[in-house]
Amino acid sequence: MFLVVVVVVVVLVSVSPACASGGFPKFPADACGRRAIPWKPEREPRVVGGEEPPYGAVPWQVELRFGDRHQCGGALISVRLVLTAAHCWLEGLVVVAGAHGPPGTAPYEQVLRVERAIQHPDFRKLGPYSHDIAVLLLAAPGVRFNILVKPACFAYESPPPGTWCEVSGWGASDPSTPDRLSPVLRSAAVPLLSLETCRKDGVYGGRQQPILDSMLCAGHLRGGIDACGGDSGGPLVCERDGRHELTGIVSWGDGCAKKDRPGVYTRVASFLPWIRESAREFGVDYDF
Ligand code: ARG
Repeated sequence: MFLVVVVVVVVLVSVSPACASGGFPKFPADACGRRAIPWKPEREPRVVGGEEPPYGAVPWQVELRFGDRHQCGGALISVRLVLTAAHCWLEGLVVVAGAHGPPGTAPYEQVLRVERAIQHPDFRKLGPYSHDIAVLLLAAPGVRFNILVKPACFAYESPPPGTWCEVSGWGASDPSTPDRLSPVLRSAAVPLLSLETCRKDGVYGGRQQPILDSMLCAGHLRGGIDACGGDSGGPLVCERDGRHELTGIVSWGDGCAKKDRPGVYTRVASFLPWIRESAREFGVDYDF
């Protein structure tokens, strides 16, 4: 009798991970920012779209869709929270985790309803792209994490200028056709630029939209590699000790990949208190 119980328990324990996650590959729940699928985009200037990572190599990336239409990117920071750009938000968006190619083609796609969304109250207050951040609350129980779908870690501070980070999304890969989306997720390595460089006269100095301290510029002043239309809301992650931290959110740029026009991102570290407050308002735990 005892033996039977032991055998049953052993069998249950050994099969339950797959059952519990609905047949999805498992991963330790607390592991943010670590990719199970190895990937390192080239640091060479290429087309704006960068390269196609293997499926699952950007596990925190989500797609915001309106019906079957691509709207924006976003990033998972916990089971029920997604960060995106405020300018991406419209009522009726769904969040798709585990996406890669056209809708329905990736094996582990999870389509999630957005229960509530909070756009930053100061969005557009200091120019068209100021405070370009929104927090989305996914309907309970939220996303099922597995090795291909997991959150990015939070960046408490932005790494110094010169640090190589990675941007990803389904945005245009040809700057001459910024409305033509990429059929697959792409990712590119870009170095962070200082605010001082970004504010120079020949760069983004003296514009209608000033470079605020809560923005972050990344890319190459010589042009050639950048985020583009459709990438908005998506993640800029920087690796630290093997963990990928969500440092920026794709926000805006003058054209794409043009000389002296780097990509401008929302600086995530500037919004930690506001994100915490939003999570509290949603009534979800967010222990960071
Ligand atoms: N605003 C664009 C969007 O809605 C993204 C702009 C990013 N542009 C850039 N050059 N980095 O998709």
